[in-house]
Amino acid sequence: MVEIKDLHLSLVGGAGPVNILRGIDLQIEAGQTVSIVGPSGAGKTTLLMALSGLERPTDGIIQVAGVNLHQLNEDGLARFRRRHIGIVFQSFHLVPTMTAL
Ligand SMILES: Nc1ncnc2c1ncn2[C@@H]1O[C@H](COP(=O)(O)OP(=O)(O)OP(=O)(O)O)[C@@H](O)[C@H]1O
Ligand SMILES: [Mg+2]
Repeated sequence: MVEIKDLHLSLVGGAGPVNILRGIDLQIEAGQTVSIVGPSGAGKTTLLMALSGLERPTDGIIQVAGVNLHQLNEDGLARFRRRHIGIVFQSFHLVPTMTAL
């Protein structure tokens, strides 16, 4: 279901480039439930952003549900997310004046 190979992701912060993910390999089968744990700043959110097609990796392969995310443009990534991804964000930015209804 999920196959990640040698994933690297670097972003440029105020103090210069930050190599956040440095060679992640991960395989998750359909039906498996996985928790990712690690200290604050370890890169858990960044990994999930890459896995869900919200952040482009610097290098490596991400395949989800048979789709290689590298081959998708922005519109393709949006369609991929609509079809395959559901996320509750760490900062979920709910609008306090509105209800779900
Ligand atoms: N847009 C960005 N630009 C530069 N550096 C970033 C950016 N986003 C995250 N980082 C850095 O990348 C590292 C990993 O951040 P990330 O948010 O993925 O960690 P985390 O494991 O989810 O942490 P937490 O447990 O606090 O949620 C941190 O050092 C963070 O400061
Ligand atoms: Mg996080």
